[in-house]
Amino acid sequence: MIETLLIRPEREFDFDKIRSVVKTAFAGAEHTDGDEHNLVDRLRCTNEYIPELSFIAEVNGNIVGYAMFSRINIGITKAIALAPLAVLPDFQGYGIGRALIEAGHKKAAESDYYCSVVLGSPEYYSKSGYLPASPFGIIPPFDVPPRFYMVFPFKPELPHGTVRYSQAFDG
Ligand SMILES: CC(C)(COP(=O)(O)OP(=O)(O)OC[C@H]1O[C@@H](n2cnc3c(N)ncnc32)[C@H](O)[C@@H]1OP(=O)(O)O)[C@@H](O)C(=O)NCCC(=O)NCCS
Repeated sequence: MIETLLIRPEREFDFDKIRSVVKTAFAGAEHTDGDEHNLVDRLRCTNEYIPELSFIAEVNGNIVGYAMFSRINIGITKAIALAPLAVLPDFQGYGIGRALIEAGHKKAAESDYYCSVVLGSPEYYSKSGYLPASPFGIIPPFDVPPRFYMVFPFKPELPHGTVRYSQAFDG
């Protein structure tokens, strides 16, 4: 069914389709505030937007998945946060989410980012190498059970402190 999977950075002409993919993917999600597609639009208007770390997954020429990594700070250190990650329901379970995450990590590791953080299912994100953030002293700026907040290191030494997200996350 998945003959050709292409992962590439987003381009402006993808934006409408991305909005629809993110909205549809989260419509069936276990945890959602129903705002993820708007978050993407808001993030693109901030300095924390990183075009080369915002990826689409294309199957047979159609966008079926999306991942955005945006700039965060841990203390004064540059890092990134993965949010949102979305794959259309019919295409879930084929490794597309994992491929999007890997593409982001590969590109980010070539830059100066120290780590990526994510809020989400530890069962899912641990499959892509995410570890609990709290033993690293990396603290989310919101109240969440520690096991749902994770980090993927790109460097051997990580900063610690409270994470500062783009204002786009405030709604
Ligand atoms: C979460 C989501 C992005 C996963 O995408 P996907 O393409 O189906 O994931 P993959 O196929 O790459 O899965 C990779 C691995 O995780 C497993 N997995 C998939 N969904 C999982 C879940 N919800 N919980 C735990 N493990 C999961 C897969 O079985 C696979 O494991 P394996 O390598 O041992 O076979 C997708 O289900 C989605 O868009 N959901 C709705 C939006 C959402 O919840 N986003 C995440 C917000 S935190």
